[in-house]
Amino acid sequence: QYTPSRSPLNVPLVMVIPSPGGCARVCCCNETGMLERLPRCGKAFATMMRKVDVWKWCNLSEFMVYYERFTNCTEVETIIVGCYWPNPLAQSFITGIHRQFFSNCTRNRGHWEDPPDEVLIPLIAVPVLLTVVMAGLVVWRSRRTDRLL
Ligand SMILES: *[C@@H]1O[C@H](CO)[C@@H](O)[C@H](O)[C@H]1NC(C)=O
Ligand SMILES: *[C@@H]1O[C@H](CO)[C@@H](O)[C@H](O)[C@H]1NC(C)=O
Ligand SMILES: *[C@@H]1O[C@H](CO)[C@@H](O)[C@H](O)[C@H]1NC(C)=O
Ligand SMILES: *[C@@H]1O[C@H](CO)[C@@H](O)[C@H](O)[C@H]1NC(C)=O
Repeated sequence: QYTPSRSPLNVPLVMVIPSPGGCARVCCCNETGMLERLPRCGKAFATMMRKVDVWKWCNLSEFMVYYERFTNCTEVETIIVGCYWPNPLAQSFITGIHRQFFSNCTRNRGHWEDPPDEVLIPLIAVPVLLTVVMAGLVVWRSRRTDRLL
């Protein structure tokens, strides 16, 4: 007779398999869970930043590793609760953290005129743009196929 879940490892494996409809993540995205988990990433990032001298806060290369770890953390936690990453909620959270730490970099430091763009465009906008471009490509290709057929 079939015995389900012989080992506890079977459980996460089963949960990772997408449903046949392919909507496993969209339909089960738990935004409450995401809003609970993201602040943990923010806290970890704040702890890291405390080790960096405040006057270096506008120099991205000084804390790039921490920032990447932070973005990765938001990605991991977002996917754990079944949501796509990036998504608007996660982005507004990241932007808030960004504002909290780097709002003073905008005017006071000459060498970093526009920190939101410097940091956010490579790390957030590019994946978003890629998503948009990919979606556009799919539409465009299917349209083109329609016409060719
Ligand atoms: C969503 O997450 C919250 C907080 O972790 C939890 O209390 C709730 O049960 C979750 N909802 C679903 C549908 O999983
Ligand atoms: C930023 O930090 C890097 C690495 O410590 C350093 O090489 C660079 O000179 C710094 N840039 C500025 C503008 O302070
Ligand atoms: C993000 O973090 C996870 C878990 O710590 C790790 O397995 C993964 O390689 C990291 N990804 C990147 C792009 O750093
Ligand atoms: C930005 O500057 C203000 C005024 O000097 C200061 O009170 C605040 O703590 C600074 N914020 C950050 C994140 O450094």
